[in-house]
Amino acid sequence: MPGTKKVFVKTFGCQMNVYDSERIAESLIPYGFTETECLEEAEVIVLNTCHIREKAAEKVYSELGRLRQVKDDRREQGKQTIVTVAGCVAQAEGAEIIARSPVVDLVVGPQSYHRLPDLVFRAQSESRRIVDTNFPEDDKFSRLPDRLVAKPAQPGATRAASAFLTVQEGCDKFCTFCVVPYTRGMEFSRPVSGLLDEARSLISRGVRELTLLGQNVNAYHGEGPDGKDWTLAKLISAVAKLEGLERLRYTTSHPHDMNDDLIAAHRDEEKLMPYLHLPFQAGSDRILALMNRKHTVAQYRRLIEKIRTARPDIALSTDIIVGFPGETDQEFEETLTLVNEIGFAQAFSFKYSARPGTPAAKSEEQLPEEVKTKRLHRLQELLASQTSRFNEGCVGQVIPVLFERPGRHDGQIVGRSPYLQPVHADGDATLLGRVIPVEISSAGPNSLLGVIRAA
Ligand code: 5AD
Ligand code: SF4
Repeated sequence: MPGTKKVFVKTFGCQMNVYDSERIAESLIPYGFTETECLEEAEVIVLNTCHIREKAAEKVYSELGRLRQVKDDRREQGKQTIVTVAGCVAQAEGAEIIARSPVVDLVVGPQSYHRLPDLVFRAQSESRRIVDTNFPEDDKFSRLPDRLVAKPAQPGATRAASAFLTVQEGCDKFCTFCVVPYTRGMEFSRPVSGLLDEARSLISRGVRELTLLGQNVNAYHGEGPDGKDWTLAKLISAVAKLEGLERLRYTTSHPHDMNDDLIAAHRDEEKLMPYLHLPFQAGSDRILALMNRKHTVAQYRRLIEKIRTARPDIALSTDIIVGFPGETDQEFEETLTLVNEIGFAQAFSFKYSARPGTPAAKSEEQLPEEVKTKRLHRLQELLASQTSRFNEGCVGQVIPVLFERPGRHDGQIVGRSPYLQPVHADGDATLLGRVIPVEISSAGPNSLLGVIRAA
């Protein structure tokens, strides 16, 4: 029986937070909660936050400002509301959030989600404000409830054909700009058997595509059923064998861990989609060394060659930072050169943002905002032209599309190509959750339009 209490979860940041938000909402279901999209009716509000750049972290405080009114209105109606800050801002700022925002009742770090129901109950019954940002000894994944076989009914929700599955969390790489090793902790790989169980549950509730997630996913080394550490390639091969699953992806990878067996998986595993997100961050060896990236431009270039040899149609995606402390004009030009040379189907680019506690934030060579803005603008122009070119190259081709949701217009459905482009086509909702050939008729800057060829 669905519960009568309501939880509202808002997600900021990366795909791992999307996954965590699902687990957070599901963890409260045994305690009589259902998820709601209506803020005003929620007894528990969770902001699952991101700390990767300053802008992302600031969003939380403006959202908390808005929540104040909601909480006051509910209080006037005699209703209690527990406002929870979860995720990486919670981990990084902890008690500071409580001090800065009187609206917050509970602060819970990413390693403590299995304790959330208990923490919510305590916050409700003891009427006190709680902070839990420990890195506990126990593994939260083994303490969280099993995945639901049927996705709980949510207002406006459609059958989710694609889902995330966190296989690895945390990072030991310590790139000098990055907060992840501090907010998510040391690298941890989940054991294979629990992952296969979770993948089966997700498939049985209609999932046809899984994206294996980790901050450093290709460093995966979880314990296999044979007692040995398995690589990501081996895990991919086991997940690919699950009946009912049609597509597999993984993200985010580090060039340093892009081993030959993983590259070979792109050649051998049919279900593994021809798409790879491989951040290079900067096109200058001096900057890469200052970033502690553990790879050079030449090594990155060589890696791409190997990957393209294994899977010639692979679409590449990357992350790039401009304006790292001390980056000269010439070094920035080297980033543009590398982008031009490789050609990306998709890319995410950012102005360097000094993060508290990271080594690069202490550098005295911080660049002026205008310099970073100008560089980002130039880079993004180049990247947008590459994405457009890639999309235009798909026109006239027949591409298998996994349809995931209804489109904005009546009678339209939207799915993804193997290369992760959104594809819009006329078709009815019975096609959702299926992979169907689509002839691409036109391309926009960020999506494709096509005609269904056979159902
Ligand atoms: N400033 C700007 N971009 C950053 N990223 C991580 N930390 C920072 C920072 N301090 C970017 C990197 C990473 C992506 C997830 O976010 O490019 O790959
Ligand atoms: Fe951050 Fe990725 Fe570097 Fe790890 S490898 S420190 S997550 S940028």
